[in-house]
Amino acid sequence: MEQAGALVLFGITGDLARKMLLPALYRLTADSRLDLPVIGVAKTDLDLDGLREHAREACGGVHDAAFEKLAGNLRLVAGDYRDPGTFERLRAETEGKGFLVHYLAVPPALFAAVAEGLAGAGLNHDARLVVEKPFGHDLDSARELNGELLRYFDEDHLRRVDHFLGKEPVEDLMVFRFANMLLEPIWNRSHIRSVQITMAEDFDVRDRGAFYDANGTVRDVVQNHLLQLLAILAMDPPPSTDARAQLDEKWRVLRAVQAIDPADVVRGQYTGYLDTDGVRPGSTTETYVALRAYIDNWRWAGVPWCIRSGKALPTTDLEVVAELRRPPVTMFANGDAPESPNLIRFRLQPDAGVTFDLLAKEPGKQHARPVPVSVDFTKVLGPMEAAYERILLDAVSGDSRRFARFDLVEESWRIVQPVLDLKEAPLPYEKGSWGPEPAAEIAPGGWHEISTTFD
Ligand code: BG6
Repeated sequence: MEQAGALVLFGITGDLARKMLLPALYRLTADSRLDLPVIGVAKTDLDLDGLREHAREACGGVHDAAFEKLAGNLRLVAGDYRDPGTFERLRAETEGKGFLVHYLAVPPALFAAVAEGLAGAGLNHDARLVVEKPFGHDLDSARELNGELLRYFDEDHLRRVDHFLGKEPVEDLMVFRFANMLLEPIWNRSHIRSVQITMAEDFDVRDRGAFYDANGTVRDVVQNHLLQLLAILAMDPPPSTDARAQLDEKWRVLRAVQAIDPADVVRGQYTGYLDTDGVRPGSTTETYVALRAYIDNWRWAGVPWCIRSGKALPTTDLEVVAELRRPPVTMFANGDAPESPNLIRFRLQPDAGVTFDLLAKEPGKQHARPVPVSVDFTKVLGPMEAAYERILLDAVSGDSRRFARFDLVEESWRIVQPVLDLKEAPLPYEKGSWGPEPAAEIAPGGWHEISTTFD
């Protein structure tokens, strides 16, 4: 793995750089974890001083030594991505800087043009290409895009960002599963009845109408983030910690996921979405989806993996709930009500931790009731690193574990393709509700309520 001598940031004046990448670079500089030339490329009227001021604002208007250091590392190449002259100037600017990382925080329609421009100036040698999401629009377009990028960069020198893989609580799922003996023996179809993954957001599509309308929930978060999460939760233990071993196991489990049956899907659109700027009149793009996936392997056959996600829901949370099967004999039921099943909850956002819903004797009674046993990881272990800091460090170091390998991307598109093909209009739901009513039927026995924060 080649450690980069310089980071080339395409789209440095764009939204993603302003919201995520520049603040992450600042924190990494402040913690002395990153100190290298950052060459911004953008179609902009700004000069270098203007870019530095833009960066300062993106970092919260700071005036401190860390920012001055970052500002000192900044360079700017202004120009059009389709103009070979831009890449010639970039070559002059990166001369002698060693191995380069080209980070493309630009719209996907420009990925291939930038890769071609880099190659035209010989900047695809001694270099790695990192591209943001979305990677393709469906299976065919993802393959086409990949083919174009592979003309200039081989798979070893290509990284596809899925920022969920940079989230520490997501990675912690792997530690929780494979560093403890508690869970693994029961983590299979014999003991687990169903798994529910909920990614809820209490805000609407805001000012992203045009982007969102061209994508919808399935492309925006299910094909990438949530199927990656499913892969981490469902995969077999990798034989080692190296990148290839982990990615291979994720691929093996995704390979076993059946393409979603349209009968196992409910799509929704919140009322008022059609009035959003950038949304097409009469659009049938979904802002909510609930679906059931099945994994055809010995560990998981027959266990429903239920995924739901949407905008304008009651809360902003990311949580996984695994429901265990009930004991074979009921001894402590409360009258006719069945005993509650044990639940294992992984909270991933906004806070991180795990809760086991166990059954205990109701004092003074003969029946049992569920009691939550929780660990708040943030409280016990301290704050976690931000996703984009880890993504940038990995982009620079070359560690590929937290990126999406193409064969995984392909499997994910295959899995969701039948949902993308659905022609019917999504069902309406009110903002602040849990989506259209029929979505309740997707999870056998209903969706478990999301646990609120640990406090
Ligand atoms: C992005 C999606 O990839 O992930 C957004 O485009 C979504 O629609 C976001 O809100 C969620 O990421 P995070 O890190 O804020 O939970």
